[in-house]
Amino acid sequence: MKKLVFATNNAHKLEEIRAILGDEIEILSLKDIHCDADIPETADTLEGNAALKAEYVYRNYGMDCFADDTGLEVEALGGAPGVYSARYAGSSHDSEANMKKLLAELNGVTNRKAQFRTAICLIEKGEKHLFEGIVKGAIIEARRGNSGFGYDPVFVPEGYAETFAEMGNDEKNKISHRARAVQQLCAYLNRP
Ligand code: IMP
Repeated sequence: MKKLVFATNNAHKLEEIRAILGDEIEILSLKDIHCDADIPETADTLEGNAALKAEYVYRNYGMDCFADDTGLEVEALGGAPGVYSARYAGSSHDSEANMKKLLAELNGVTNRKAQFRTAICLIEKGEKHLFEGIVKGAIIEARRGNSGFGYDPVFVPEGYAETFAEMGNDEKNKISHRARAVQQLCAYLNRP
């Protein structure tokens, strides 16, 4: 069976991609290959960070692999927080603080358009391939809902009334940026 490393230890992401890919390809996590490095994400684009992580695994373990990076891009803020989404309000990856800062930045701003964007970098037989998934939507004025993570309570996807945090994971995973990027990757991997 073909083996592919997903440069993550995030159990939800692993479960999501294993469900989409089925039995054809075995997906290994960083833990599965005994990699406990904190791979630096120092690029200034999502694609750059995804490539840094995938290249690290390929260079050090010689295995085909892929990595992802996601950001929330807000139109009125020129695409911010973007690649800095996790650390928007500081280095502590605090979602509450990040949302509070975002709502403060958008206070009085009428253009609430935003999108989540996921970039995936695959390195297969030494060749790099990029995939992308986008979900468009808007930032509301006050948080709603308790499920999900990150900016979910303030993001309403286009065509829906609920925030990602009110929707529940099953529904979110059908339309999310990450699901769309993963579908692109899977279509490539499962090509005839
Ligand atoms: P990562 O690249 O998947 O680690 O995502 C980086 C950051 O983007 C996270 O720390 C969250 O702040 C935000 N983010 C990514 N995906 C989502 C999502 O599905 N909902 C809400 N926030 C997200």
